[in-house]
Amino acid sequence: MAAREALTPKALDRIPGWFWGTDQRLFSWILSEKAVGEPPGNLLELGTYLGKSAILIGSHLRAGETLTVCDLFESDAPEEANNAETSRSYSSLTRDKFEQNYLTFHEKLPKIVHGPTSVILDHVAPNSCRFVHVDASHLYVHVKDDVLASRRVLRPDGVVVFDDYRSVHTPGVAMAVWEAVANLGLEPVAISPQKLYATWGDPGPLRERMRMWLEKTPDLWFTVDPLGDRDLLRVNEVKKPADPPVDAATLRKLTAELKRTSAELKQAVAESKSATASLRKATSEISLAGPVAQRAVRWTRRRLRAAKTTTKD
Ligand SMILES: C[S@@+](CC[C@H](N)C(=O)[O-])C[C@H]1O[C@@H](n2cnc3c(N)ncnc32)[C@H](O)[C@@H]1O
Repeated sequence: MAAREALTPKALDRIPGWFWGTDQRLFSWILSEKAVGEPPGNLLELGTYLGKSAILIGSHLRAGETLTVCDLFESDAPEEANNAETSRSYSSLTRDKFEQNYLTFHEKLPKIVHGPTSVILDHVAPNSCRFVHVDASHLYVHVKDDVLASRRVLRPDGVVVFDDYRSVHTPGVAMAVWEAVANLGLEPVAISPQKLYATWGDPGPLRERMRMWLEKTPDLWFTVDPLGDRDLLRVNEVKKPADPPVDAATLRKLTAELKRTSAELKQAVAESKSATASLRKATSEISLAGPVAQRAVRWTRRRLRAAKTTTKD
């Protein structure tokens, strides 16, 4: 069997998609955290595109678990607005490309539901999942149904993650998600700039374990913010400090040095041009002097021979 590439953040970077460092870290922690996923359960992704997030989710599959991914891929969407959305943003997507990407890192494909997320409950059993990632249509009518599907398939201790819960181009996701928080019992646990992490069960234990893990994870910063009568973890990557700005005096010094170096360079070029010209002149003089010298040698030899002949006589 062909060797599979190791899944590193750098290797995952090569797969096109919308799945950034903070969320990669949070997914990996949630999916590998025993207390979140004991006993084994299934994993589900709605909206997989070229596999960037599915590949990472699949790397946390345990024995006896199934990862199901659902996407329209190159097929038509169930209605016009959804069709406009997919042809605008995902026109080059094909199922083949997803499968190729996935098989770069894994030996086996996940279970693929090639169709709209509205059919997902025909393929995933109720109360069977420990993790669901909702990242398909951004339109309210579809996200609302995806929210309900996540409630049906997740176990009480399972985690659901909603992408684009606050982007300016995805108000439909925001409306469906906050509506579920307000009216349906969805419990937010944490947010990153792109995703909201929640559960349909008791959020307390998950939030506390996540907080303890974040305290020992120096490359992620977090705050605990109030959200109504609950606490919400706000998580992001620690940014590497930028290079310090150059002050005006240093800038003036660097500019003067640059000017001096460039003047020296100009002078060196001029000198080398004049040396080349002198060399050319000397070469042509040598080539002119050559035949004259040869004639002089021949004339001298003739004179010597003539002188010898005269001496014998
Ligand atoms: C934002 S992309 C998914 C990104 C992916 N999770 C990643 O991390 O790179 C959204 C995906 O949802 C799919 N999609 C849109 N509407 C859908 C629907 N109604 N049913 C199933 N998939 C849908 C699109 O084809 C697209 O591949």
